[in-house]
Amino acid sequence: MAKIKKLFVCSECGYQSAKWMGKCPECEKWNTFAEEVISEAPAEKYKKEAAISYDKSAFVPLKDINSGEEIRYKTNISELDRVLGGGMVPGEVVLLSGDPGIGKSTLLLQMCKSLNKDLKILYATGEESSRQIKLRAIRLGVDKDNLYIYAGTNLMSIVAIIESQRPDLVIIDSIQTMTISELSSSAGSVTQIRECTQQLILSAKTLEIPIFLVGHVNKDGAIAGPKILEHMVDAVIYFEGERNLSYRIIRAVKNRYGSTNEIGVFEMLGDGLKAVENPSEMLLSGRPENVSGTCVTCVMEGSRPILAEIQALISKSTYPSPKRSANGIDYNRFYMLTAVLEKRCGFFVGNLDIYTNVVGGLKLDETAADLAVLASLISNLLDKPLRHDVAVIGEVGLAGETRSVNRINQRVNEAVRLGFKRIIVPKIDAAKLKNAGENIEIIGISNVNELRRIF
Ligand code: TYD
Ligand code: MG
Repeated sequence: MAKIKKLFVCSECGYQSAKWMGKCPECEKWNTFAEEVISEAPAEKYKKEAAISYDKSAFVPLKDINSGEEIRYKTNISELDRVLGGGMVPGEVVLLSGDPGIGKSTLLLQMCKSLNKDLKILYATGEESSRQIKLRAIRLGVDKDNLYIYAGTNLMSIVAIIESQRPDLVIIDSIQTMTISELSSSAGSVTQIRECTQQLILSAKTLEIPIFLVGHVNKDGAIAGPKILEHMVDAVIYFEGERNLSYRIIRAVKNRYGSTNEIGVFEMLGDGLKAVENPSEMLLSGRPENVSGTCVTCVMEGSRPILAEIQALISKSTYPSPKRSANGIDYNRFYMLTAVLEKRCGFFVGNLDIYTNVVGGLKLDETAADLAVLASLISNLLDKPLRHDVAVIGEVGLAGETRSVNRINQRVNEAVRLGFKRIIVPKIDAAKLKNAGENIEIIGISNVNELRRIF
């Protein structure tokens, strides 16, 4: 007979404790402990089971394993396929996460529409009624014979449906609403989420069915539930973007079947999400003219160059310690660049508030944007706008020197494609850009001080 134990489990990291605690000693979050009932089987039982289940086929030389052909089901939504690494793989479990209302359910329902019409799909929803799904499907123009809806939260019923109906794809919206009634803890608790996911992974792997799980995020933007959830699934995709803006970005933070560098860009329209094939154009639309403190750069998002607009605003501080705000730029990098601005460019900013922002909710994690951040700061300090057709690309070192960036040709080509004529790059990269095009001026600079020249 299995022993039943009561425990307190941290809903953030899964840390277990016999007593309730205000602050988790593992992840240092507050108020995350919830009571869970855990039934434990004795260790000897596990050992016995392991001994029975072991057989020769569980111990095979690598060279004898047949890898087979790699099968990918294309979702036919180009930006989603890009992030998935070319489509779904049979047996793959994907966790799709993001803020409420950002478009998770919309994207998955649209995926049902665009998938090959012969594929049989089970869409299990614990969030909405079948009627709500139907209304949304009408709005999105989803008209499919092979799409089946299960509205409910009983996970074992879903598993039973999967086993008897053998769909080609399963969508669970959301994993936090699903429950296994034998477990006494409530929906959304660590135990429920973990066990439900475990059951679904088991079905996915044994029946080779891809499964999409929708995951909620907590108030910090992390996936709600135990961290272990992210380790269990094959791919984790985050939906980013500002709810009040119309565009959305999906990004894989983990992918066992593809790269994690690619992003997918969508625009939310009246009839659902539309893939944006040329994100640069969209991100630069509405750029102000003749305003100081804005600068365009080009970053690589996976294999794709994307132009981004960086804005800076510097004002006299009314606070005892001036405000620093970096939206879309890594904080540490931003601090480093303000130090370079003071020490190497001779601007005193110690008593000034500095705000920087990357337009469109894009998050830059590339050092190739350094020079453009400095250019926008200097532009605002001097109150001199950059010419409208200037793009700035380059990394900056602590000595104020410019450093080479990778794939400079691709970046410059993207800038040229969008009409930029004067491109500022690190001096060593300028030599590689002899054939940038007619009427294109490439300016190589070796030190950040030379940025003053471009205004
Ligand atoms: P939804 O997919 O329900 O978000 P999630 O599942 O991530 O919580 O997205 C709902 C939002 O999207 C809602 O604010 C309305 C908007 N929307 C559109 O703008 N156009 C559409 O065609 C649809 C279906 C939704
Ligand atoms: Mg939803």
